[in-house]
Amino acid sequence: MLIEFGSGSSIKTRILLDALIDPVAYVPVDVSEEHLLMTADDLRSSYPGIEICPVVADFTKPFSLPTAKAPYSHVALYFPGSTIGNYTPEEAAGLLASIAKLLGPQGGLLIGIDLQKDVSTIVAAYDDSQGVTAKFNLNLLERINRELNGDFVLPNFQHKAIYNSTDHRIEISIVSLVDQNVMVGDTVVNFAKGEKILTEYSHKYSIEGFAELARPHGFSLHQQWTDSEGLFGLLHLVPDGAADE
Ligand SMILES: C[S@@+](CC[C@H](N)C(=O)[O-])C[C@H]1O[C@@H](n2cnc3c(N)ncnc32)[C@H](O)[C@@H]1O
Repeated sequence: MLIEFGSGSSIKTRILLDALIDPVAYVPVDVSEEHLLMTADDLRSSYPGIEICPVVADFTKPFSLPTAKAPYSHVALYFPGSTIGNYTPEEAAGLLASIAKLLGPQGGLLIGIDLQKDVSTIVAAYDDSQGVTAKFNLNLLERINRELNGDFVLPNFQHKAIYNSTDHRIEISIVSLVDQNVMVGDTVVNFAKGEKILTEYSHKYSIEGFAELARPHGFSLHQQWTDSEGLFGLLHLVPDGAADE
């Protein structure tokens, strides 16, 4: 049985489902219900032999796993896309501990991590010349205006991405360019010029560093893959002892 945390459109998952030997069930887990159920329907048409059991849940909180109709021997958790990097190492360790419980002694975790690399390459990815990330970040304010009755004036705010070399993470924020008051519903929010709204962390790991983070939770590094430039890593972590079998 394959579980995926933060499955989104399950596009990468199709590559894995095509390659797995006799998968019994696929359990995509996502908070975005409408999108998840639509994706599950598409997958049912493409993979009639695999039971598709979507779960609407926040994977950082306890939730129940569905039981597949057919018997299965192993649970594998797929967590690609480096979503784990959005959590602090302490939070990521907590998540690894709950994943270890979910998998049991026979399971395995296939996880994607964005690797530490040249700082200018990282910064360029979060502050691209075409302004794609800036638009994505400032879209939060547009959504607050639309969905929470806010009155953010977008030109008064600026996207900012800095790399914190001590904590090995990109810190994305929205900076107020002037002293201003903003209404969100009935609430007034004051911003001083230069004040930041922190919107995202994206932690970068080394393969060894991530394996180290997972070790106290009973995981051993079984296999690893990177692209030719070593920018991104995919790790297969298995419960201790299973790596030698
Ligand atoms: C960046 S997308 C990645 C989608 C896909 N896994 C991929 O790699 O292309 C992150 C997805 O994770 C979901 N997500 C983020 N945090 C979540 C959480 N705590 N619980 C459940 N789903 C979450 C979002 O709704 C979104 O669909």
